[in-house]
Amino acid sequence: MNAFLRLLGHARPHRARLAGAFASMLVYGAASAGLAALIQPIFDNVLVTRSGLGTVIAGILLLYLLKGAGAYLSSYLMADVGQRVVRDLRTTMFRHLLDQSAAFFARHPIGRLISRLVNDISQVQQAVSETLGDLARESLALLGYVTLMFYYDARLAVVCLTGAPLVVYPLVRLGQRVRRTTRRSQEAIEQITHVGAEAFGGHRIVKAFGAEAREGRKFAAASDFLYRTNMRVMSVLAILPPTMELIGGLAFAGALWYGSQEIAAGRLTAGEFTAFIVALFMMYGPAKKLSRVNANLQQAVAASERIFEMLDVRTEVAERPGAPPLPPFAGTIAFRDVAFSYEESDATLRDVTFSVRAGQVLAIVGRSGAGKTTLVNLLPRFYDVTAGSILIDDRDIRDVSLASLRAQIGIVTQETVLFDDTIAANIAYARPDASREAIEAAARAAHAHEFIAPLPEGYDTRIGERGQRLSGGQRQRLAIARALLRDSPILILDEATSSLDTEAERLVQEALANLMVNRTSFVIAHRLSTIRRADLIVVLEHGRIVETGTHDALLARQGTYAKLHELQLLEETTEVEAG
Ligand SMILES: Nc1ncnc2c1ncn2[C@@H]1O[C@H](COP(=O)(O)OP(=O)(O)OP(=O)(O)O)[C@@H](O)[C@H]1O
Ligand SMILES: [Mg+2]
Repeated sequence: MNAFLRLLGHARPHRARLAGAFASMLVYGAASAGLAALIQPIFDNVLVTRSGLGTVIAGILLLYLLKGAGAYLSSYLMADVGQRVVRDLRTTMFRHLLDQSAAFFARHPIGRLISRLVNDISQVQQAVSETLGDLARESLALLGYVTLMFYYDARLAVVCLTGAPLVVYPLVRLGQRVRRTTRRSQEAIEQITHVGAEAFGGHRIVKAFGAEAREGRKFAAASDFLYRTNMRVMSVLAILPPTMELIGGLAFAGALWYGSQEIAAGRLTAGEFTAFIVALFMMYGPAKKLSRVNANLQQAVAASERIFEMLDVRTEVAERPGAPPLPPFAGTIAFRDVAFSYEESDATLRDVTFSVRAGQVLAIVGRSGAGKTTLVNLLPRFYDVTAGSILIDDRDIRDVSLASLRAQIGIVTQETVLFDDTIAANIAYARPDASREAIEAAARAAHAHEFIAPLPEGYDTRIGERGQRLSGGQRQRLAIARALLRDSPILILDEATSSLDTEAERLVQEALANLMVNRTSFVIAHRLSTIRRADLIVVLEHGRIVETGTHDALLARQGTYAKLHELQLLEETTEVEAG
């Protein structure tokens, strides 16, 4: 129930609305009981002597009006509180998830995260807005009816209500089952979203490798599992109303048996007895709803547990409280004895020490898997170092605010990441208020203007999810334009090795060269043209720096770099060389 209390805690800011809802429920409950109470004068006076007909009719109309108003207002206000809580929870969760480190995203597939954000939250929403309202409103109505029954004949009321405690235990047990099954059902939905997201995301590969049927079966299995779990929940939930009705029937039989004796003995009028029976019947409406409340709440608890699990994930790369902003970079960036390992694996980087002065170009070379991408990911703190430190102008990057650190770094990643938006919006991703001239200037410098201008909608062309309506080289040049517009003093370039044709290659190379002007660049370089331009080359092997120096010095050493060069792992790009 812990998760549930925590959920309620989120409703605290909406206390005023809750109080309003509660007041409306009181009106609803009182009016409900009042209507039942009118039965007695109707049977004992109005129908017998025709006296007070007008008053009773006016009373009925007024009470129905009050009951209606109470029902409407309480439903509306409760739903409002529920929706607000859920809205805030959803937004909080989104921001919390987005703040997680790259390691978190490597562990949690996107489809699963989305499922928590959408499905678990809507499961909670249903419970909070409907069930809580029901719980409060129907309890009050029930209380009203029971009071009335005791008022007419306490002993008769006791006879009718003896069965009531008997239903509590099975209700609680059923609730526990519902909670377990709901958890499983939410997991099944998560699996469905995950399988769907992967298959759609990789639809080309799925088709190329003829795996549609296999993906289909995977999905069908997940879907079938969900069906079975849902039916298990349903089979439990569907038992409740008939059970309650059966108990109601028993109470009615008891009341009739005992009541007829009381009337015969003159201790009860026919009107009082009818009012009693009506109250008894009316009571089963709320009782039936209440019997479902626990089960529904348990569904909410199951879902909110899953939500809070995510909200409680500690942000691995967290900002120190009150961390000051990083002043504009002007001096040196230094890696000092940096070590890093992913999860439990062996150290991916060890004893990495080097420094770069402002305005220099650092090239990082090494075989595939040597740790190059890992190394540059440490600078914007996508991951934090396991040991050692990274200093910018003698400040540890963990001591400054994340936003100020990242604001000084522009990145072009190994795999180009673009968004489903217009070309202009993608280029201006870091500066949404950038003018069209600035966007175009960046595009020109990135040699992207050449392919954007002829498009029918030019800069307003939408490029599709992950920019799939563009070619690989075009995507790269857009990413470069985006980094150009960011105009940050530090630049990280993870050169893609994907072989572009010579023309596209030349354009991308020139765009990169434009990008590096007047910046401090960390370039993961595969091309000799970039490497020759570098002020310092760091050669990585199995996560260690094995050599550092300039191109000529390293060639002269006849070491790893020379070997890489010989193996042609460093590509010659003749055109740029010439130019
Ligand atoms: N998220 C991760 N979790 C665990 N291990 C990882 C993760 N990312 C990379 N690795 C491992 O770390 C090592 C270094 O990877 P990295 O991506 O830094 O290589 P790289 O030098 O950039 O290679 P490439 O030239 O192919 O891009 C590899 O052995 C890889 O398997
Ligand atoms: Mg890499």
